[in-house]
Amino acid sequence: MKETTTWVVADPDQEDMFWPSEAMKQRAWMSDPSIYEESDKDPVAFWEKLAREGLHWYKEWDTAYNEAPPYFTWFQGGRLNASYNCLDRHVKTWRRNKVAIIGVREPIDEPAQSLTYYDLYREVNKFANVLKSLGVGRGDRVSIYLPMIPEAQIAMLACARLGAPHSVVFSAFAPDSLRSRIEDAGSKVLITCDGYYRRGRPVNLKNNADDAVEGTTIEDVIVFRRTGQEVNWVEDRDHWWHELMAEADPYCEPEVMDSEETLYILYTSGTTGKPKGVIHTTGGHMVQAHWTTLWDFDLHDEDVFWCTADIGWVTGHTYNVYGPLSVGATQIFFEGAPDFPDRSRVWQIVENHGVTVFYTAPTLIRMFAGWGDEWLKKHDLSGLRLLATVGEPINREAWMWFFNKVGGGRCPVIDTWWQTETGGTLINALPGIGPFIPTVAGRSFPGTRHEILDEQGNPLGVGEGGLLVQKSPFGPGMLRGVYGDPEMYKDNYWTEYGDRTYYTGDGARLFIEDNFRITGRVDDVMKVAGHRLSSAEVENAVCGHPQVAECAVVAAPHDIKGTTPYAFVRLSEGEPSEELAKEIITHVVKALGPTCRPEKILFADALPRTRSGKIMRRILQRLVSDEPIGDTVTIENPESVDTLKALVGYRDKS
Ligand code: WT7
Repeated sequence: MKETTTWVVADPDQEDMFWPSEAMKQRAWMSDPSIYEESDKDPVAFWEKLAREGLHWYKEWDTAYNEAPPYFTWFQGGRLNASYNCLDRHVKTWRRNKVAIIGVREPIDEPAQSLTYYDLYREVNKFANVLKSLGVGRGDRVSIYLPMIPEAQIAMLACARLGAPHSVVFSAFAPDSLRSRIEDAGSKVLITCDGYYRRGRPVNLKNNADDAVEGTTIEDVIVFRRTGQEVNWVEDRDHWWHELMAEADPYCEPEVMDSEETLYILYTSGTTGKPKGVIHTTGGHMVQAHWTTLWDFDLHDEDVFWCTADIGWVTGHTYNVYGPLSVGATQIFFEGAPDFPDRSRVWQIVENHGVTVFYTAPTLIRMFAGWGDEWLKKHDLSGLRLLATVGEPINREAWMWFFNKVGGGRCPVIDTWWQTETGGTLINALPGIGPFIPTVAGRSFPGTRHEILDEQGNPLGVGEGGLLVQKSPFGPGMLRGVYGDPEMYKDNYWTEYGDRTYYTGDGARLFIEDNFRITGRVDDVMKVAGHRLSSAEVENAVCGHPQVAECAVVAAPHDIKGTTPYAFVRLSEGEPSEELAKEIITHVVKALGPTCRPEKILFADALPRTRSGKIMRRILQRLVSDEPIGDTVTIENPESVDTLKALVGYRDKS
């Protein structure tokens, strides 16, 4: 189907500012700008209305919103089930036979697997019964370690049906990372597969899983057979998915959950070496997922939505599972890699499956742009009507390339700012309202409030750079805590400006009134190719190498990945060499997985430190970014900085 309507118009007075066309405004679910003022008058009443209209509740809540800083609750006393909202209510309507998920496969000659809402409903019910038969019930944690196959969604929804919080772990994470997440959550069941295909070759995932579960709380491992490769088998502990499913009953009554009961735990990197188990609750998450999916991506029944995020990240949770299924959308779930069998793979999928709404990361856009336009020219992309990005700041060139080359200048580009902690998008332009401005995410989602503060906590006006915070009432999808670690919850988010102001860790400025430009992390969290890494975690892994005495890891600018980790290393023994650098890198990849690979190892005799002996990452950060070093009086050994300048090839930008 060809879409000939132009969906955006440029503002003649403003270079690079775009607005929705009349056609877009008419079609969009939300195109009335007064929604911002209206929702701001009484955000709680606003969210109550959305909760009522968007979801099925067995019982309405007693208390819409309550704050006991730094904690808060939404819709307490309200009863619902997330899987009921994603499945049961659709199979009672004409959507019963609508395609919910198009699983695009690798190997490439394997046909796509389409699951209708009814197919998915049956699989989820059966799998919930499988989990039940292994003793999983309300409140039990289940770890999921699966690649991008629809069984990942089935497993998650089956957990939700039983009220058992899932903890999905990115399939490229190393066994140690899986193990620490299993241990922290105290999961009793792990769901994984024999292996998966990566660029045509089968990868053995079961081996990783076996290494990880040894000696943990895991009692049962369910293994989906994907590749058919040889795997180790532990009798009584390991079970084949298909064997258990063959005996499972077709219906499982959904557990009636309180709105504030946990839907899932998702681990993310913080400023310490230990990943944080971010807690999301049932009612709040579902409300946020439902309405942000509908309004940001403007999904209608005839749309095909493709969010390219991996299921291991929060974007995969909110916009590959709970959001699109709650609104009854059709979505692509892609198992393969964007450059296999060649660099036109993504555009081929967009054309063949009629993708209309495409949500991806700036790193991928920069990579596509770098590959050259010839890969997209081979494909008809005229069905696309909306584009969106997430995960890291997008630069102007990438935005314009995406807008012009992929979107043909027709499609709004929705730059969505949010975090694992926020559970759903929070700052972005709405497609029916606009404006769409390169490098500017846009406005606070209706019903939420953000500000930019200086270090003393004073709100800043247009143009001034500061720290991004969220003000009360906090969005319903926000985290409710860090699993097993209330201190970490308080320290991370509620100490910078007190327990009534949520601290995001991001720098930002107002580009024009109400419109936020997010400039990136200001703490020791790195965003590398959109993935979130902790400096401390990578440092721990580097220091695990026997020849490393100490190290500091910082994010250096990178043309495609946005930023990339550089590790400054002082050796305890041996001489610096390229070989040793490689060895250290391999060591990190083995400990944490390939996403955490340091780009460079910089051997140094001394690192800048404070009088109390702490390495000054901030100085190293400026060195690798060619930023002014600033005041050096607090450095105990300022001469180290000069040596390092030569080492990194420092050129002061100022
Ligand atoms: C961090 C959160 C949100 C889902 C995926 C990432 C950065 C995210 C944007 C954006 C600039 C962005 C922030 C944020 N970030 N979206 N549109 N513009 N920066 O979730 O892994 O928890 O990372 O990603 O730095 O704090 P996450």
